[in-house]
Amino acid sequence: MPAAPTHHPQCVLVTGGAGFIGSNFLLKMVPRYPDVRFINVDKLTYAGNLLNLQSIEDAPNYVFVRADIADRNAVLRLFDRYRFTTIIHFAAESHVDRSILAPLAFVESNTLGTVVLLEAARRAWGDSSTDRRFFHVSTDEVFGSLGEESCFTLDTPYDPHSPYSASKAAADHFVRAYAHTYGLPVTISNCSNNYGPYQFPEKLIPLVINNALEKRAIPVYGTGQNVRDWLHVEDHCEAIDTMLQYGAAGATYLVGGHGERTNLDLVRLVLDLVDEELGRIPESSRRLITFVSDRPGHDFRYAIDARYIRETLGWQPRYTLNDGLRATVRWYLSHREWLKQVLDASYRTYYETQYANR
Ligand code: NAD
Ligand code: TYD
Repeated sequence: MPAAPTHHPQCVLVTGGAGFIGSNFLLKMVPRYPDVRFINVDKLTYAGNLLNLQSIEDAPNYVFVRADIADRNAVLRLFDRYRFTTIIHFAAESHVDRSILAPLAFVESNTLGTVVLLEAARRAWGDSSTDRRFFHVSTDEVFGSLGEESCFTLDTPYDPHSPYSASKAAADHFVRAYAHTYGLPVTISNCSNNYGPYQFPEKLIPLVINNALEKRAIPVYGTGQNVRDWLHVEDHCEAIDTMLQYGAAGATYLVGGHGERTNLDLVRLVLDLVDEELGRIPESSRRLITFVSDRPGHDFRYAIDARYIRETLGWQPRYTLNDGLRATVRWYLSHREWLKQVLDASYRTYYETQYANR
């Protein structure tokens, strides 16, 4: 790691802190940095859940504000109320399948919401050369799809394919435009697929665990040969902490876990772990696997070349995929109350819309 920090966060606006990655980040950082104030701004969509944050809700350095980042007046009021030194921008509509069903919410939250925040930061920070940072949390999906070989690198051109990735790519372009045009001090990270505690069970891994628990069919899209590069969310959160404090203003980092698996291999691995943890007959849950029609425009493969962050900032993942998945399966099995709370009527409606007639 470089010897000296490049940024010293004091008053941090965290957007989307009630979601999966944001809540994991706050649960770690609020106790770790008692002298830093964290203002969590979240709209509390179906994916945001204050239950995740119970252990820090009374911390003296933590505040929650319910607001929509695409609401200009609400965001300007926030910037009037707090003197932010730092913005860590997680808030987004994040599920590809939902973006295929209803793309507009993705443009509003992911693209417009990001521009509203950039504009508020530009006004608040002006031309000041003092220590400020806009940290934009993005995804490797902006690069499109890989074949069997090679990885995404910092030179890979943007080629988003889904409404989700297009809305994130547009946001990334705006973040760079604000750096270029106004000198806004920004950092962008493009990370691979995350997994771990508090992930909403519409995403593959918690969906598999939940359906296995309920002995329901496990829907695998197409042939299950699509590949994702999986990273434990705690490793991602540590990477963000490192990039924020030690990364260069204006830099982009690619973050990934060397955790490539085909979907079918991954699903089998998760199911075998569930069987083991529940004392079921080994490999018995595999019979729940059901091949369903493919996601439209399904990207074949994602894989990250994370050399730059490793070589410049010394970050690398701590979890192996096997250890991370076992820990995750254990977490879901011991948090069934949480699962019950998030699986409300709106989830069931979504599930029926998404998986009916596939
Ligand atoms: P998530 O869907 O679990 O959580 C998103 C949070 O943002 C929710 O709490 C939601 O209420 C909030 N939100 C949504 N729209 C909002 C709005 N308009 N105003 C305020 N709050 C709003 O998502 P996640 O998986 O935690 O992802 C967080 C960020 O990380 C996203 O920007 C995503 O693109 C990026 N990312 C995710 C992954 C992954 O695998 N999950 C990988 C790489 C990058
Ligand atoms: P997902 O968790 O939705 O993340 P992303 O689409 O952002 O990569 O899906 C991960 C992979 O799993 C992706 O290739 C689609 C596939 N998938 C299924 O096969 N079945 C499912 O029910 C879901 C939700 C995803």
